[in-house]
Amino acid sequence: ADLRGTEEDTQAPKQGGDPEAAAHRYVLPEDFFFGAAMSGPQTEGAWCVGGKLENLWDTWSNEDLGAFYNRVGSYAGNDFMARYREDLALMASLGLTTWRTSIQWSRLLTLDGSINPEGAAWYHELFRASHEAGLECFVNLYHFDMPTYLFRRGGWESREVVEAYAHYAELAFREFGDEVLHWFTFNEPTVEPEMRYQEGVWYPKLRDFGRARGVQYHISLAHSLAVRTFRRLQQAGEIRSDAKIGLINAFNPTYTKDDPSEADLEAVRMVGGINNRWWLDLVTAGKLPADVVKTLEDRGVCLPTRPGDEEILAEGVVDWLGCNYYQPRRVQAPQAATDERGHLRLSDDYHWPQARINKSRGWEIYPEGLYDFGLYIRDNYPGLTWFVSENGMGVMHEESNRDAEGVIADSYRIEFVRDHLVCLARAIEEGSPCLGYHYWGLIDNWSWANAYKNRYGFVEVDLGASYERRPKRSAAWLAEVAQTHRIV
Ligand code: NOJ
Repeated sequence: ADLRGTEEDTQAPKQGGDPEAAAHRYVLPEDFFFGAAMSGPQTEGAWCVGGKLENLWDTWSNEDLGAFYNRVGSYAGNDFMARYREDLALMASLGLTTWRTSIQWSRLLTLDGSINPEGAAWYHELFRASHEAGLECFVNLYHFDMPTYLFRRGGWESREVVEAYAHYAELAFREFGDEVLHWFTFNEPTVEPEMRYQEGVWYPKLRDFGRARGVQYHISLAHSLAVRTFRRLQQAGEIRSDAKIGLINAFNPTYTKDDPSEADLEAVRMVGGINNRWWLDLVTAGKLPADVVKTLEDRGVCLPTRPGDEEILAEGVVDWLGCNYYQPRRVQAPQAATDERGHLRLSDDYHWPQARINKSRGWEIYPEGLYDFGLYIRDNYPGLTWFVSENGMGVMHEESNRDAEGVIADSYRIEFVRDHLVCLARAIEEGSPCLGYHYWGLIDNWSWANAYKNRYGFVEVDLGASYERRPKRSAAWLAEVAQTHRIV
């Protein structure tokens, strides 16, 4: 049931022959929505203003600014808290109708777990401004931003913190329940376990496969508890009856070689199992994929289960799903069954000779992955509606790539989005229930340890001129597509 590389996948993009016919052919449905995604910790700034507590990004910035590209820490985001009205107006002027951000746990709650009135007032103000600008705001509750005091109590390795998240979710639902229509529990819930606990990249830079899976398991419980509370509050009439709840994951269609061995296919099963099926099964069936859990156990990785957990996970079924898509995973059987520290090794990367690489990021550009994912959902998870919750192209040193008028000339970004939209349109035509598309980072924003290294925006943020916004060349193109639904 995984996305396996087939011969077909390795062929050139199937984009309908001559480009004019293709452009004419690929029109997205009338009710398809266009928008943009961002997150609180990457944009808001004002990191210690208005009662906001430290999260791990602030703490890491304070402790080791050198860990961040050009020593730019979390402090300023992209100054969104000061400029949100301008940014919302910009989104509306480009013809977008929806957008996503996240509430920062560390801004909404105080140390004793009650509402921080200043934090709440700002989010109320933001949602009101969004509404006034004619934009529907999708609200996510957690975007890699663990409050530091909770990390000190064990973070996602602790049941106490799972409970604290459920409490935070409940307070957020109650506070904003009559304003918000689209809620999400987590963004990319496999990424934090990987980056903080497995790959040693983000603070506290651990390298422990087993602990990462424990964290992933606890996040699954936290998600499910939040959904349970959401349903309860909705039934009791305490939040909007038309509100929906979902999860946003980074889905990486997982491929292997053209002539795979059994062991290569096994690598696909487990890598795809942990990144993709884990969440798809949870949000559609309320359980984790048994084959994945069993293989982990057989290989010495036991999840921190407790009696009663199955009932909690069973509550994790959502109304719809967000899919962040940047690149596929290409894997092959690992050279050794464990790494140098004795930790389980599921796969090695496979370098597909035909891969097109975005050199700034080192990420593969493979729009067909979105088509494959769309059909995979259609065939394996019938009834599950979804949207592209992130897709985008980050480019390094883009600031020096200007035309005669001084505007960033980013034709590569147009090409990237166009190719992905064409693949998406094909999947929709063939029956995949995808309802919309959010570009990641309409306006350049702060990106974790990479800070402002890779710029994603259709709109530039001038770091030398106190975060002034300036549309790049691609912005007019986006506006045309968003307004006409025609992929030009
Ligand atoms: C996915 C994440 O959700 C977001 O936080 C990040 O900045 C983008 N990818 C770009 O890497």
